[in-house]
Amino acid sequence: MTEDLKGLALDAIATSGAADDPDYPRFHVVPPVGRLNDPNGLLVDGGTYHAFYQFSPFHPDRKLVYWGHSSSTDLLHWRHHEPAIVPDSSYDLSGAYSGNAIVLEGHELDCAPAQAPYQLFYTGNLKDPVTDERTASQCLVTSNGLTDFIKWPGNPLIAAHAKGYTAHYRDPQVFRNPDRSGEYRMLLGVQRANETGAAVLYRSRDLVSWELEGELSFPDAGGAFDSFGYMWECPGLVRVRDEATGEDWDVLIWCPQGITPEREGFENIFPCVYTVGHLVGTELRDTDGTFHEVDRGFEFYAPQTFARRPSEPGPVLLTAWAGNASEDDQPSIETGQWVHALSAPRGLSLKDGRLIQRPATDLPHDAGQPALVGPVPGDGLHDVAELRGHRSWQLRLEADPGRTSGAWGLRIGSDKSHVDITLDGGVLRVDRSASRYTRHGDARTVTLPEGCAPVLEVLHDRSLTEVFVGEGSVVFTLRSFVDSGSSGARLMVDGSLVLASGSARTFTPTPEGL
Ligand code: FRU
Repeated sequence: MTEDLKGLALDAIATSGAADDPDYPRFHVVPPVGRLNDPNGLLVDGGTYHAFYQFSPFHPDRKLVYWGHSSSTDLLHWRHHEPAIVPDSSYDLSGAYSGNAIVLEGHELDCAPAQAPYQLFYTGNLKDPVTDERTASQCLVTSNGLTDFIKWPGNPLIAAHAKGYTAHYRDPQVFRNPDRSGEYRMLLGVQRANETGAAVLYRSRDLVSWELEGELSFPDAGGAFDSFGYMWECPGLVRVRDEATGEDWDVLIWCPQGITPEREGFENIFPCVYTVGHLVGTELRDTDGTFHEVDRGFEFYAPQTFARRPSEPGPVLLTAWAGNASEDDQPSIETGQWVHALSAPRGLSLKDGRLIQRPATDLPHDAGQPALVGPVPGDGLHDVAELRGHRSWQLRLEADPGRTSGAWGLRIGSDKSHVDITLDGGVLRVDRSASRYTRHGDARTVTLPEGCAPVLEVLHDRSLTEVFVGEGSVVFTLRSFVDSGSSGARLMVDGSLVLASGSARTFTPTPEGL
């Protein structure tokens, strides 16, 4: 008898105690049970945000990936829904791997599969139980209301990898071709037969039959990306306007596995990088080979941006897996049988070719709370009264550069169990060595770009912390397992600190749904 995989997942969710774990974040997407990895199919629809994600409900007992599903109207309160894609078809029995979504409207619906507004693309993963040989196919799920998810009867759309590549051929990103109306394109992360990473593009007019166009190439990059790691995971292209020049760029964000550039950064097992150019055909032109890490934190991988209807434009929002491969050894698997979370959505822009990332749930910049403005008395640690007793909060602090000297920052947690975040001249330092999770990095120093404003913004949610420095010019995402008995944060001053502005808010929402 075939297993009822959906029923089994719902049973696992129903008996889960994950939400009672003191480390379970309150305003992030977290799995209801088991393991989460990449965000998938992110979309905005009529003011509601939907986040799907790689979801392994039986982790660690059994490795089987579904698409989990959460939604929110404010990007803070997330509601769990039933899994959207269950790996119970002949072509995805070893997992419904990552992919994205597009939202169709108007005349686009006329020739859309099932005439459905929501089209979700994913990779069907299949491993032969005897030979262990892998088949990767690209598949489609259609939905009319985001409560019904129907696998396309003609799946798979792309049955296997193309000649010249291995079965590491996955993570479709489907998008409208801005240059040819009525045409869609699909970007895939691949491994060449010679075991180097690349991305390939397909095109389609009906979202069902796909024609291989070729590899994404970089004619102006001087060969920088020709042999760049052994596999590219989760590539995504997004058009972003440069705030400084007003010019639109296509930003390629991807995860090249196996690169070790000889410069600061790239300390994680796998990095996530971006480069900017202009997509013309299969060429990403005007990319000179420069690339940067998207986030400098210990845990950050496989980000993607939220798809929107053309009639509902809005900011470019990006969410990532606040995790990385081989990092399932977190305390929460013991205490609540869950592991990992998605990062909070952040707004993307560009400034002189560099990505700027700001929390999508912004705090006011000038109307500071009185206690968070003005001179902070003396060296040492000072309680932030606004956060007292809270373990989920958002804080924004702007130092007055003329009247601030030495190091300053925040201690999250108690003297015994804490994470320290410090700005010292041109350097950000994050130290979690006194927390319960240090295995994949305990302290890291990041050189800030020149002219970086002394603004520190922190989203802290029980065991997940996102640090934004200099109005979003550097971001650092990390898991921060400080003892649940310790709350709030204290200002750390070693020199003198005068706050030009500051604001804070706290969260107590509980997860809803299911
Ligand atoms: C990235 C990744 C993807 C794949 C998915 C499987 O973290 O390895 O390439 O589709 O996770 O869960």
